[in-house]
Amino acid sequence: MIGEGLSRTDGPLKVTGRALYSAERREMGEPLHGFILGAAIGQGRVASIDTSRAEAMAGVRLVWTHRNAPPQAAIIPKSDILDVKPQLTTDRIAHYGAPVAFVVADTFEQARAAAAAIDVSYDAAPGAFVLDEASVAPEWHDESRVGDLDAAMASSDATVDAVYATPYHFSQPMELHACIADWRNGHLTLHIASQMVAQLADAVADTILIGRDCVTVDSRFVGGGFGAKIALHAEAILSALATRQLNRPVQLVLTRRQGFTVVGHRPASISRVRLAASRDGRLTGIGHDANIQVSPEGNWKEGVATVARALYAAPHRLTRTRHSTLDTGVCEPVRGPGEVPGLMVFESAMDELAEKLGIDPLELRIRNDTAIDPEKNRPLSGRRLVECLREGAARFGWDQRPTRPASRLDGRWLIGYGVGSSIRGHYQTTAEARVRLEPDGQVIVQTDMTDIGTGTYTIAAQVAAAALGVPVAQVRVELARSNLPRGNGAGGSWGSGNTSVSIDRACQGLKEKIGQVAGIGYNDLFAEVRRHFPAGLEAVGTTLGMDDEPSYDNFSIFTYGATFTEVGVDVMTGETRIRRMLGVFSAGRILNAKTARSQLIGGMIWGISAALHEAAHVDPRNGAWVNGDFAEYLVPTHADVPQIDAIALDDFDGAANHLGAKGIGELGSGGTAGSVANAVYNATGVRVRDFPITISKLLPGLPKI
Ligand code: MOS
Repeated sequence: MIGEGLSRTDGPLKVTGRALYSAERREMGEPLHGFILGAAIGQGRVASIDTSRAEAMAGVRLVWTHRNAPPQAAIIPKSDILDVKPQLTTDRIAHYGAPVAFVVADTFEQARAAAAAIDVSYDAAPGAFVLDEASVAPEWHDESRVGDLDAAMASSDATVDAVYATPYHFSQPMELHACIADWRNGHLTLHIASQMVAQLADAVADTILIGRDCVTVDSRFVGGGFGAKIALHAEAILSALATRQLNRPVQLVLTRRQGFTVVGHRPASISRVRLAASRDGRLTGIGHDANIQVSPEGNWKEGVATVARALYAAPHRLTRTRHSTLDTGVCEPVRGPGEVPGLMVFESAMDELAEKLGIDPLELRIRNDTAIDPEKNRPLSGRRLVECLREGAARFGWDQRPTRPASRLDGRWLIGYGVGSSIRGHYQTTAEARVRLEPDGQVIVQTDMTDIGTGTYTIAAQVAAAALGVPVAQVRVELARSNLPRGNGAGGSWGSGNTSVSIDRACQGLKEKIGQVAGIGYNDLFAEVRRHFPAGLEAVGTTLGMDDEPSYDNFSIFTYGATFTEVGVDVMTGETRIRRMLGVFSAGRILNAKTARSQLIGGMIWGISAALHEAAHVDPRNGAWVNGDFAEYLVPTHADVPQIDAIALDDFDGAANHLGAKGIGELGSGGTAGSVANAVYNATGVRVRDFPITISKLLPGLPKI
């Protein structure tokens, strides 16, 4: 049962349109519609704002600016992503596109037209919008130092010392950020696209100054999150304030473009990677200095420089981060935070080192395996990176790799192979789930965990069915309401680990309760329920977080993977095409082979995207995103993703939890991006260190034939 590649239990609802996403809910009646007007400058103040034309327009119910918006909690500078987020409480503009006015009208079109009729003038001020050496503060943060990297660099046989740049990324899930807020009898219900409902409910309550027990968040179906639906954003706050004022449900859906301004981003980064090795390919030193953008408002820091801390052995190590405070908006978690940019550049540097040493890049990685966390000095549980590398190499045909760059031509295509390692922390956090047995044979699983397209509905049913020995069809899973038992939502790839453990524990609790009255060795679970618990029986299961469970200090727990990529680069035009790709991953026990494979493949596609496509470009004059829409912010399409496969090793990591399962949501992407970059180098002999690898960066270096 556990591990079986069961199709999604919510699949039929989704393909028939019966799974209602937040903006489709109508049980509260027809909502009014809101629209946000965003700032047209990147720094400064609103000098004047005239809403009289908008207020006079048809259907308009409310127009708010900083002059008349309701009182809210005070702004917290450097706030965490689920802290209070007051809206329209100041005339100061923190970044381009930040809300300056809000309109509610009978229809979306009326609201948008009225917002466009608001006359705003600004006092623009200079801002810092460009990530470079001039904008960086001198002090280092989050420094981890072992041994003496400088000495290793000075005395080793081969070194790499290279600077790489990664751009701004946005999560941009398919479903837009959407909320219907409904104030009724002093209670606020938010139907909102969210990854972490209970935390969001608390943050909304704290922002609009009502009791936390006066808010319920419901995110039953979410069309992708990728980190963008963790933080509290304006759509929740403004719709909540408006429904309370108007006593009507209020719907607020951000436009795709507002998904680039009202929602945060992955910061751009500049990394200096230093590697030192002896002639036989043993790393003597590992260094990663990252300069990342941070925001004056938010506190989220992308862990770019930290990805190599447990990846390879080396006696001398230094990883640290500098912060460039820029006015380009708030940083938030975006698909594989840290690993996507961090591994992309680090695994590129490993490839550069292999080239210098004349060692196969696969072999270089294998030679530097470690069973011990090199910085925490404790065992790495479930460390199977080398198996991922070897298994992948065998299946992919790595021995067919061109050994010299730019040496294989297939028609007009230069062919190259690349490999990249993946590593991602496993996080177990506190979570609860309730399981209820009805006398009629129904099992009900309840937790506030969300299913953001990842498969929670399905694996939750599988785990309960397996624990109780009933068919999956007998299990009803209720998710994503903040009044259900609290967990930590979907984020950090921890959702399925937390949720499965607490569901299994609840089921074990139920079996114990029944065993106590029925004796062990009963035959029919539900016959005993009917006999002894005619009103049904329920139990709550708890997952203990890593901070509360001392045994977690005995190991460092990660997931691992290796991605192999073959590219063709058009020798005339510089166009890069993925020809095939294979990822092999070790992520503990797999709960559902089908949804797991989908997660891994999805991650790998984002890896392709980071290597070749994605970059949000900032206008240096005002911090606006010049390509902030889906016409110009490139992501891979079907035509960009040909034959691609992901395999999970048969695995079990008892250090993670008693089910042996670890997170997989973000594992697929990090090493994949590096493997693409390395394949492009192998094909062309051109090393692009400024991501993404686009035609204009490749073309000048292509061999002339
Ligand atoms: Mo993930 S970027 O923590 O949803």
